[in-house]
Amino acid sequence: MTGFAEHFDLKTPLALAPMALAAGGALASACAKAGALGLVGGGYGDLEWTAREYQLAVDNISDDAAAMGRLGCGFISWKLAEDSAALDWLIANHKPAAIMLSFGDPRPFAKRILDSGAALICQIHSLKDLPLAIEAGAKVIVAQGTEAGGHGATQDSGRGTFAFIPEVADWIAANAPGTYLLGAGGIADGRGVAAALALGADGVMMGSRLWATKECLAAPKAKEIVAETDGDGTARSAVFDILRRKNWPGIFDFRAIRNDIHREWENRIDQLKNAPEGARADYEEGARNKDYSRVHIGIGESIGLITDIQDAATLIDTIRTETDRALQRIGG
Ligand SMILES: Cc1cc2nc3c(=O)[nH]c(=O)nc-3n(C[C@H](O)[C@H](O)[C@H](O)COP(=O)(O)O)c2cc1C
Repeated sequence: MTGFAEHFDLKTPLALAPMALAAGGALASACAKAGALGLVGGGYGDLEWTAREYQLAVDNISDDAAAMGRLGCGFISWKLAEDSAALDWLIANHKPAAIMLSFGDPRPFAKRILDSGAALICQIHSLKDLPLAIEAGAKVIVAQGTEAGGHGATQDSGRGTFAFIPEVADWIAANAPGTYLLGAGGIADGRGVAAALALGADGVMMGSRLWATKECLAAPKAKEIVAETDGDGTARSAVFDILRRKNWPGIFDFRAIRNDIHREWENRIDQLKNAPEGARADYEEGARNKDYSRVHIGIGESIGLITDIQDAATLIDTIRTETDRALQRIGG
């Protein structure tokens, strides 16, 4: 058992990534009930969505005090800077065990979060993000490598998970002992959990693998495609953020399945930025028709380890057993 698992009374050192619009109340509560940290994907801070999904999670586990202690929410920091109504609603109406901030400076929101009693979790993408997160008061650091699904640092500014985890672990041991470290990016089974622990992490955060569950809010057809695609099938770029009119800071981009529309534009990003209208119309028609050769599926390199769509509790149970087995194998 790691300190991180003890802190949140977890049965396995695993956190659900707060995936915007995908990690809703059903998935977060199922993870919390199964003994993992369940974070609702507050994402861009839509008040109505966050309030509905967080309330659903609370309703699902209101009779289970241990699970309530494993429930929290995540937000995108640069978006909170524009509108923090969802964070304010959450703190005023609930007692989340943890609130996670990613993608931007966490310090403007940290005091509100710490005063609420929630543990602050900060996701980082390079070593230079780490002192800021500690200064903000983070109890948990998520070191995200560029293998990760969804948003993360660009290939140029980000790091690979395997070398990033131990470097962050060493920095924390020297400068901020007592802070917990989670590895994220490309971890999708017990072998990955065991590897992260061996590299010095106190646990892991999984997005892609838990996206591919029955409770995730993504469309069933998208989940089917994910179960059939191998690990060569994704790419990072700004293509889908431009097509979706998301105004992301340039140090971040988005890993998704490399579909036809991505291939068409991935080597012409400047052209797409300068004249996006035609491509946007194409994308929006794809979205209306659920045509996944055009609309995005945000997912990481671990897609190659995902071959089925299970319920979250069964999956978490399997991951726990696989982790024990992998650790025994290494130990033996
Ligand atoms: C569909 C999707 C949406 C995501 N949305 C968010 C988000 O809103 N906020 C956030 O902090 N991280 C988000 N992430 C990234 C996760 O926090 C996490 O770092 C990542 O999923 C870990 O890598 P993995 O996908 O290989 O497990 C998202 C990931 C995916 C796959």
